[in-house]
Amino acid sequence: MRKKFIAGNWKMFQNPHETRSFGEELKKYIYGRTTNERIAVCPPAISLEAATEIFNNTAVEVFAQNIHFEREGAFTGEISIPMLKSIGVRGAIVGHSERRSIFSESDELVNKKLKALVEEDMQAILCVGETLEEREQGKAFDIVENQIVRGLEEVILDHMSLVTIAYEPVWAIGTGRTATPEQAEEMCAFIRAAVAKLYGEEISEELIIQYGGSVKPQNAKDILEQENIDGALVGGASLKVAEFMSIIDYKG
Ligand code: PGA
Repeated sequence: MRKKFIAGNWKMFQNPHETRSFGEELKKYIYGRTTNERIAVCPPAISLEAATEIFNNTAVEVFAQNIHFEREGAFTGEISIPMLKSIGVRGAIVGHSERRSIFSESDELVNKKLKALVEEDMQAILCVGETLEEREQGKAFDIVENQIVRGLEEVILDHMSLVTIAYEPVWAIGTGRTATPEQAEEMCAFIRAAVAKLYGEEISEELIIQYGGSVKPQNAKDILEQENIDGALVGGASLKVAEFMSIIDYKG
């Protein structure tokens, strides 16, 4: 049985003070409850330490939104994996479409980052997804498979338990236009099959596949109940504790 994994991608929102208040409020919600869901927040770099402090000894994991693949060096403006580990960060998102399109990250760079993470025993959420144009041209499945094959190049089988794949159709991110549960399920099932081709059935059956793109309290249940969707990567709706919690509590 795969455990649902709900992660909040805060993007460039929530400074350290706001992170602490968010953390205090979220802790009140989750205090004393036993949840079957895995929960993570991905604050901007400057707020990571506030987040690891506030969520210390709770079930909430803290992930970064980006990392550099080298351990240290002359890389102005970058943050290394050992630095993140030193403050209790558990993993990072790689290959988010905003980083691919706005910051020109290639599959090769995404792959380097992913490999660096898992080699340090850190979790990686690998984002994949097609643009609207690619979907309309019938290329969505090829694009996604290619991002998976290239993103996972040279990642060994033993490290696959550290990898989550997030299917985020670019046309659904921040647009309010969600993929239908059927569209999301179809792609997530395809992703599981693509991973089975690379690593075998056993690994693919255990793989956590999230859907991301305008997930909200109103649509979370329909999406999260799909067979091949094991969680959500939530942007906008993860910035308010009540909304984030009602996604986590999608079963009602
Ligand atoms: P959204 O963002 O939920 O605001 O669409 C999702 C994401 O980019 O991870």
